[in-house]
Amino acid sequence: MTLDSTKREKESPSSAGTVPFWFSIGSLLLICWAGITFFSHVAAFRSDVSDASIDTLPLTASDLNDPMRLGRRVFEANCAICHQTTGLGIPSQYPPLVNSEWVLGEKEQHTRTQLVAILLYGLQGPVTVRGLVYNGNMPAWNHLSDAEIAAVLSYIRSAWANRGSPVTAEEVSFLRKNISFRVEPWTWNELEKLPRSLQ
Ligand code: HEC
Repeated sequence: MTLDSTKREKESPSSAGTVPFWFSIGSLLLICWAGITFFSHVAAFRSDVSDASIDTLPLTASDLNDPMRLGRRVFEANCAICHQTTGLGIPSQYPPLVNSEWVLGEKEQHTRTQLVAILLYGLQGPVTVRGLVYNGNMPAWNHLSDAEIAAVLSYIRSAWANRGSPVTAEEVSFLRKNISFRVEPWTWNELEKLPRSLQ
């Protein structure tokens, strides 16, 4: 046996043992980190949406047949993270929906058209809600179906202290077809000028 081969025999068992050992410790740490990150995210989301116990359950036939129930579920799954389950939003960040002039405007037909338009394409730039200016970005929700958009709008118009009439899936369908030219989120100014033919 040469000196070289003795050395190799001595070294190889220890180096073969070291790699898997550190590898397994590393993997274990990685799994712990992933687990902690995942659960803390879920926890953060859950506390934002504190009253959201039903939003994690699959939609049932009764949700689909009851627009208010469907509306609440769509709201809790998509909107409450910013506008909060109370509909009060977060001051200077996310505007309130309760008593908002956008949700319950005096010009009924114009308000309904604006609401559907906001949901289909989003809203950006300065906008005044209950006397405060917000300057944020609301994403579009055009991946939701006509029935889901109608349900969530009917929900925000009648939940909390709001008392507005429901929005129908037919109204959403009509506007989806007729403002399909739109690409970007609306600005306040553009919404004010929505053509009469759409109302
Ligand atoms: C990522 C945060 C976020 C989510 C999620 C979100 N919004 Fe908004 N929403 C905003 C912001 C920010 C504005 C104001 C945009 C601006 O400043 O131009 C706004 C504005 C509005 C307005 C008009 C202003 C008001 O307060 O009445 C309505 C109505 C509205 N959102 C409804 C909804 C509905 C319904 C959903 C769920 C389908 C939703 N939003 C989801 C952030 C969000």
